[in-house]
Amino acid sequence: MTVPAWFTEDRFGMFIHWGLYALPARHEWVKNRERITEAKYDTYFDHFEPDLFDPAEWARAAKKAGMRYMVLTTKHHDGFCLWDSKLTDYTSMNTPIRKDLVREFVDAVRAEGLRVGFYHSLIDWHHPDFVIDGYHPRRDDGPEEIERLNEGRDMARYRAYLHGQVEELLTEYGQIDYLFYDFSYKHDDHHTDVWNGKGAEDWGSEELLALTRRLQPEIVVNDRLDIPGDLVTPEQYQPDRPMEVDGVPVVWEACQTLNGSWGYDRDNINIKSTDLLVRMLVDGVSNNGNMLLNVGPTGRGELDAAAVGALEGIGEWMRRHERSVRGAGPSAFRAPADTRYTQRGNRLYLHLFAWPFEHLHLPGLGGKVAYAQLLNDASEIPFREIDPKVKALTTGLGGQPAGTLTITLPIIRPDVAVPVVELFLTEDA
Ligand code: GLC
Repeated sequence: MTVPAWFTEDRFGMFIHWGLYALPARHEWVKNRERITEAKYDTYFDHFEPDLFDPAEWARAAKKAGMRYMVLTTKHHDGFCLWDSKLTDYTSMNTPIRKDLVREFVDAVRAEGLRVGFYHSLIDWHHPDFVIDGYHPRRDDGPEEIERLNEGRDMARYRAYLHGQVEELLTEYGQIDYLFYDFSYKHDDHHTDVWNGKGAEDWGSEELLALTRRLQPEIVVNDRLDIPGDLVTPEQYQPDRPMEVDGVPVVWEACQTLNGSWGYDRDNINIKSTDLLVRMLVDGVSNNGNMLLNVGPTGRGELDAAAVGALEGIGEWMRRHERSVRGAGPSAFRAPADTRYTQRGNRLYLHLFAWPFEHLHLPGLGGKVAYAQLLNDASEIPFREIDPKVKALTTGLGGQPAGTLTITLPIIRPDVAVPVVELFLTEDA
């Protein structure tokens, strides 16, 4: 697995889940969860008019938060298309807004100098050829009704539609840097109980991936086609070590939500704090991963207050600490409890998830640090090596193994989401 250098350099992107489900405003799986019929779901289609949609505003917010790429749902599982697709009427062009929202999005993202990504759902709960399965909103209609509904449905025709739409998206909108296909549920451990599960044969994944690469040779493609892609995509959890597939290290990106839902979810107050989000970003980079942080804009087209607050909070931290994550990766040094290391060349970044009392002992760094400072204000952090023969006794600090570096921190924790000590390693470290 290889990806272009920008991907692991950037480290941080914005995910945007937006579509008709912003109107019910209770999770993007609402059609599935509430088994909503086509006719009923059409109400949202008839009322979709995001008059405050301003993708330049989204792009500015992303950039200020330190994000370098943006990934928009061109189509989610409900099948609704945010662009002017010639292959269906089920697009934003035929809703009251009458706009190609993808076009406006890509233009705005590029204007801010950010990279453009698409999320595209393999699943489609609207398409008449998509065979009903255990995830489909009609799954509980009873065996007879399902048999009747599935009669004449033809996944080959759906495949042609899927490939045709991807072709539109990858030819009509300039350079697309990233494609997040979503998702397969046939062959992996997590979906064994889903009947009529779908995977590579259903999507024509080999051909779809080849088409994707032919149309956009530089593109980064995720791993949810049920065949390997360029990276792996842990969702809503933090891997506790650098990720591997069959013992081989892989590029990875965790996709994370602000409140557990991807689409706008009005009454959901399970909102992660800025501090937690920053810790998640740092934790990921310390394990060689990216973070794709989601926002779910409202039906009017705006980011809600929680998203704006989170992005501003992260941006405030990134303004001073960006260099501890951008282009950084894991370190071979062993980080003390409650800390995370990231490293870029000879700069080692010590992220303090808890604030200790004055001293912190850094194993293996004795003789390897030329200078140390707090990153938020460039104030010097003193350090020393305590003679390993000295025991900890009365007023004396000691009892540290040889090669340990002891730093002295101020009593008052810097007022930032995550304080960082920047350690300048010696040439031979
Ligand atoms: C999923 C969900 C979903 C969301 C996504 C993001 O598997 O189906 O609604 O779009 O992953 O990674």
